[in-house]
Amino acid sequence: MIVKTALFQCSSQKIGQCPKTDRPEFAFIGRSNVGKSSLINMLCNVKGLAKVSSAPGKTRLINHFLINDRWYLVDLPGYGYARVSKDKRREFSRIILDYVRQREMLYCLFVLVDARHEPQRIDLEFIRLLGTEGIPFGIVFTKADKLSSSKLESNLAVYKKRLSEEWEELPPLFVTSSERKTGRDEILDFVESCIR
Ligand code: GTP
Ligand code: MG
Repeated sequence: MIVKTALFQCSSQKIGQCPKTDRPEFAFIGRSNVGKSSLINMLCNVKGLAKVSSAPGKTRLINHFLINDRWYLVDLPGYGYARVSKDKRREFSRIILDYVRQREMLYCLFVLVDARHEPQRIDLEFIRLLGTEGIPFGIVFTKADKLSSSKLESNLAVYKKRLSEEWEELPPLFVTSSERKTGRDEILDFVESCIR
């Protein structure tokens, strides 16, 4: 898919404020600082479309971007931000839960995970929640430029093994680097195949 136009449409504080639309929607989520906004800018080929920050927790709103006047790309708030409590219970904020459960035109939710780390409990729990709720999702490994190809391969293998303990079939997986524009075609082609 060629991205011809990418327009910021709106920021919503809650699901009720999101655009009323029948266009397909593809959303991006993950732990704070995982590289969501960078990935969105890379996919759209527009620097500064989504705000990139060195301080975590920048995205607190649901941001809608209209792509090619055809589908929505959505930047969701990060989860797991500023978790200092020892409480084992993980919470995903209301805004995220409402969005994933109620957004009828959500075709796929891309869950971003940092390629450098072993599977994190909060990500696995979020993925499990998507499974129980029947929400279609894919996993996007980010910042692939930050590790060697052998380390990347072994981290991917660990992740797949971990997922196959719970899933009979693996979800679509994408390896990306916003720095090097890796994985751009794969994600855009996947979106195209879903809306065609
Ligand atoms: P919040 O909205 O704050 O939750 O963060 P985010 O997930 O949107 O992350 P953001 O895109 O703001 O990136 C966080 C930091 O990681 C920034 O310093 C980025 O420059 C850096 N970063 C993001 N993607 C990549 C990548 O592919 N490679 C490298 N090397 N750095 C990246
Ligand atoms: Mg962001």
